[in-house]
Amino acid sequence: MESEWDSLSALGAVTAVCLLLWATWGVGCTVYVYLLPPVRRGAPWLRAHGAWAVVTGATSGIGKAYAHELARRGLNVVLISRNLSKLEHEAKEIERLHGRVTRVIQADFTGGLEIYAAIRTGLRDLEIGVLVNNVGMLYENTLVRLLDREDVAKRLSDVINCNIMSVAQMTAIVLPQMVSRRKGIIINISSFTDKKPCPLLSAYAASKAFVRNFSQAVGAEYCSQGVIVQTVSPFMIESSLTKDVKYRTLLLSSEDFARQALDTLGLTSQTAGCFHQAVLNALLALLLPGWFRLSRWGPKCLLLLSNAMAKAKPAHKR
Ligand SMILES: NC(=O)c1ccc[n+]([C@@H]2O[C@H](COP(=O)([O-])OP(=O)(O)OC[C@H]3O[C@@H](n4cnc5c(N)ncnc54)[C@H](OP(=O)(O)O)[C@@H]3O)[C@@H](O)[C@H]2O)c1
Ligand SMILES: *[C@@H]1O[C@H](CO)[C@@H](O)[C@H](O)[C@H]1NC(C)=O
Ligand SMILES: *[C@@H]1O[C@H](CO)[C@@H](O)[C@H](O)[C@H]1NC(C)=O
Ligand SMILES: *[C@@H]1O[C@H](CO)[C@@H](O)[C@H](O)[C@H]1NC(C)=O
Repeated sequence: MESEWDSLSALGAVTAVCLLLWATWGVGCTVYVYLLPPVRRGAPWLRAHGAWAVVTGATSGIGKAYAHELARRGLNVVLISRNLSKLEHEAKEIERLHGRVTRVIQADFTGGLEIYAAIRTGLRDLEIGVLVNNVGMLYENTLVRLLDREDVAKRLSDVINCNIMSVAQMTAIVLPQMVSRRKGIIINISSFTDKKPCPLLSAYAASKAFVRNFSQAVGAEYCSQGVIVQTVSPFMIESSLTKDVKYRTLLLSSEDFARQALDTLGLTSQTAGCFHQAVLNALLALLLPGWFRLSRWGPKCLLLLSNAMAKAKPAHKR
């Protein structure tokens, strides 16, 4: 009896120590990645990977903020998105504000394989140090079930091409020169939805799960050849993607986000981007865990939550 008690308490003690170590590790990593300025890699480190950065979806929101921040840290920037007048305007702004050289490439990432030849040509003679796979679209601006759109087939194809194909193809275009120079950084902008399947964001969430898993695997393949792959999974940032969110002024600005997320480069391969987003991600996982979101009540709760967070819309729109 006595010895049984002893072994039980020994087991308890070991468990407690393990939990304590695990918690300490978690807190330590969080502090190291987000809160310790001295460990951050500086602009010279970034610049040493190559003279140019390429950003997809670079004319608004997070992509625009990354483009500006990379230029501010001394890189020339290639901007890629659909609207030529927006591209030219943003390129001029970057040249004016940060004194770097820019180049623009017009492309619509909802297209298939045919759009990449022009991009390849546009990037041919550049030494690319950083690729930011940022472009991405939602299936719908609010939370909806799969069939709650008229153009399901076309929209699915657009989301998959824009969120998945673009990342894989863009990586395939720049990776060879990074591997041969033994230097390069690929940043994939994912989302908090990349961790578990998410009802009412099904196609979007699954496309981001692809981004995260693909990044991790390719990162493992090429890390010994000097290529750094980072997946950034924010919760919610102020941008045109979140224009229908009610408490928008509470959201972190794209500029603050990009600056803080770039500070985590070289410190971690997977990040929420900044402390603020890491806390929000953790809160969501705690309040609405994956198993609950996937239960039959999950979608109903998510709908309630999204209605509470959405701006009132004209009745005919929904
Ligand atoms: N905002 C958030 O809260 C949040 C949270 C998690 C993850 N993310 C992710 O962050 C990334 C950027 O989001 P964002 O909020 O910054 O978006 P955004 O403000 O809507 O910006 C989208 C950018 O991509 C371009 N673009 C859109 N569709 C395109 C297409 N088919 N082909 C080429 N370019 C296209 C747009 O320019 P043009 O109109 O000129 O093409 C624009 O520059 C996305 O991958 C998104 O999934 C955002
Ligand atoms: C491109 O963006 C400009 C400025 O936002 C807008 O006025 C114009 O209509 C857009 N062009 C296309 C083809 O969408
Ligand atoms: C993210 O980064 C990896 C690393 O190279 C890259 O291969 C991948 O295509 C990128 N995108 C996705 C969707 O993972
Ligand atoms: C994808 O990544 C997630 C999170 O890292 C992981 O839980 C999941 O098992 C992965 N799925 C596959 C098919 O590798």
